[in-house]
Amino acid sequence: MEQTFIMIKPDGVQRGLKLITVDQSFAEKHYADLSAKPFFNGLVEYIISGPVVAMIWEGKNVVTTGRKIIGATNPAESAPGTIRGDFAIDIGRNVIHGSDSVESAKKEIALWFPESPVNWQSSVH
Ligand code: CMP
Repeated sequence: MEQTFIMIKPDGVQRGLKLITVDQSFAEKHYADLSAKPFFNGLVEYIISGPVVAMIWEGKNVVTTGRKIIGATNPAESAPGTIRGDFAIDIGRNVIHGSDSVESAKKEIALWFPESPVNWQSSVH
């Protein structure tokens, strides 16, 4: 599987070329499965509090391997060397999200990247 290194350079970050700030109804759709959780409102507030970098990662078993790279949801339990293990400070501020299943990934890609060619072949449309 081929890989490439991508970096958004300072001007790209400054100009927000890859950054998206989502509104409350969008965040509520993204986290719809968690709407009954006591932390739901705080989670939505956190996600809409500033820009995020939305990406599609592609590769063999990338849902599982992506979550291995990301680390456990609770940074107190995520291993050193994982993104959350190295950089996150709190379960409610855990730096990065990754779809938890192929089905969730399809739904989330359809929500965040409605124009993506991935959606043209998937069963979500
Ligand atoms: P994420 O991978 O985006 O999926 C759901 C999010 O809910 C999770 O990361 C955390 O940010 C958040 N979350 C899960 N459990 C808790 C909790 N107990 N308290 C606060 N936030 C939580």
